[in-house]
Amino acid sequence: MTLSYRPFDDANRNDPFPVYRRLRDEAPVYRSDDPEAWVVSRYDDVLHVLKTPELFSSDAMSTVMMGVDPRAMIDPSVDPLAIENMMAMADAMPFPVEEMARHRNLIVSDPPQHDVLRSIVNRGFTPRRISAWEPRVRQLVSSCMKRVADGEGCDIISDIAVPVPVIVIAEMLGVEPERRADFKRWSDIMIEGITGARRREGFIKSGVVEMMKEFATYFGEIAERRRSDPRDDLVSILVDAAGEDGGLRPMELVVFVLIILVAGNETTTNMIGHAVKLLLENPDQLDEVVRDRSLIPGLVEETLRCESPIQMVFRRARTDTEIQGQTIRENEVVCGLLGSANRDQRRWGPRADEFDIHNDAQGHLAFGFGVHFCLGASLARLEARCVLEALVEVLPRLRRRDNPLEYVDSNLVRGLRHFELELAA
Ligand code: HEM
Repeated sequence: MTLSYRPFDDANRNDPFPVYRRLRDEAPVYRSDDPEAWVVSRYDDVLHVLKTPELFSSDAMSTVMMGVDPRAMIDPSVDPLAIENMMAMADAMPFPVEEMARHRNLIVSDPPQHDVLRSIVNRGFTPRRISAWEPRVRQLVSSCMKRVADGEGCDIISDIAVPVPVIVIAEMLGVEPERRADFKRWSDIMIEGITGARRREGFIKSGVVEMMKEFATYFGEIAERRRSDPRDDLVSILVDAAGEDGGLRPMELVVFVLIILVAGNETTTNMIGHAVKLLLENPDQLDEVVRDRSLIPGLVEETLRCESPIQMVFRRARTDTEIQGQTIRENEVVCGLLGSANRDQRRWGPRADEFDIHNDAQGHLAFGFGVHFCLGASLARLEARCVLEALVEVLPRLRRRDNPLEYVDSNLVRGLRHFELELAA
């Protein structure tokens, strides 16, 4: 069978791993025609792309953020939707167009600009700040566990894997509790409208523009309030940095909060959902974890390796270069398949596709690598550890309800929409 792969093709949604294996074995630098990009699938090559920002620019991540053909960055006429989306976004933001044009964005910027932005946002995510959240995370987990453990059956996704990260991030940012539901709604619209089946509808039809309007208005107001009345929250830290030379401008602050919201919620939810699925599919390993909780951090890393919540990243070649003897021309786009690199048998051995909590998953690329390494990795790990420590208490008494698995509408973000459990007979 001829090998055919398109990063956003729905056909690969439920199980992309067979095609990843073929890509690694038969065409490690594969040319996708939609979007036009070189798809890189082996561990060493994906690592090379991530750790060499001087050759591979993150500005191609705007493909992901604007839902457009990556070539539109060079020549907007190749994708009229790119123009439509950008105009619509400019309209949606309560900022002048010039502000929109010159705003800096963490995910799409390269060093040295990226270093400046990253050093500002790092202040809100120091190890001390994150570990101080542990008691609150545990409290939230235990209130969610009431529903999980009451014997009536539960959905791991909506009952615990969604609320814990959403509430934590809302509280870290310092937003009112009643807006938490909006957080989830906003983040779903972004993911589906930009990386899911609705991406070719354009931002107006898919609801992304409306959502941006609501979001920017709301966060603009919060930032204003924190400016005059700072508190011990993330928005205040960022607003405080806004006064510094090179600090965040108002629109940059709104965009950054949006990135945290989308990057931080869905991914953690999906990691928790998959950890539970993998444990129930491997009862011997569940038994071991029940007996020995110290295995949980390893279980978290192995889940991230096997079922990476972010399956791919995009980069643009800044100059002509080569990967595996294939020339990549200046300005061509490279799609690095994290989800494939993490199962590359060349790196992880012949059992790379198997989930095993005893594997040494260190070195997985689920959080990326190098300058853009995930800002929220330690928070995500903390949340996963707390949730799983509580869940393993009850999981041996539960089993999966017999209904088909449904995945989140996105090929970039991999996760289960629901994962329902009931009491085992
Ligand atoms: C299991 C959970 C998570 C996974 C798998 C994940 C994955 C990733 C990956 C792969 C990148 C690198 C993107 C690139 O190289 O272009 C990244 C960056 C980022 N993540 Fe996460 N993430 C998770 C949780 C979080 C959380 C909880 C937050 C925030 C609270 C967060 C915020 C960010 C931000 C702001 C960046 C951009 C960093 C930069 O460009 O310097 N992530 N994440």
